[in-house]
Amino acid sequence: MATVNIPEEKRTLTEFAEVRAHLATIGIDYERWTPAHEVAADASAVEVLAAYEPEIARFKAEGGYVTADVIDVTPRTPGLDQMLNRFNSEHWHDEDEVRFIIEGRGIFHIHPREGKVVAITVEAGDLLRVPRGTWHWFDLCQERRIRAIRLFQDASGWTPHYTQSGVDRGYEPVCFGPQYFPNRPNLS
Ligand SMILES: [Fe+2]
Repeated sequence: MATVNIPEEKRTLTEFAEVRAHLATIGIDYERWTPAHEVAADASAVEVLAAYEPEIARFKAEGGYVTADVIDVTPRTPGLDQMLNRFNSEHWHDEDEVRFIIEGRGIFHIHPREGKVVAITVEAGDLLRVPRGTWHWFDLCQERRIRAIRLFQDASGWTPHYTQSGVDRGYEPVCFGPQYFPNRPNLS
């Protein structure tokens, strides 16, 4: 389940309905693809895409996406920092950014033209669609692990355009979710 945090309001949303509703107000589509399909930890990209073929086909039909691939990074991925540095400052794309998370976590910051910056921590089962032109940036969580299906309308349109606003530097890429309260005592 995705978690939404609005730092300026010191507000965190964790319920599916309120997460989905709030994201809809800023133009972000959020879905849970459940039940998730079983894919082995070492499944190839082809196997992952085959497992989720029905959902991918539906999304392609609805959104005009023409291709899908799988991004799979771990802390040991060569050039990981350079890869992450392309996307961790505010930018937009000429096409939608669509991610379905298979494994691991990440945090999207969305900067609406009108309204407050929203941080969305995504994890396995979460589908996020960031429409073309949306100002945003992305970081991995502490474990630096993510495996996700990406859908493209035209892969050539996915080059980031940087706003160079510096807004991103005002927000810590702190992921929410199970590790948010690491020292919380057991209250049960
Ligand atoms: Fe992006």
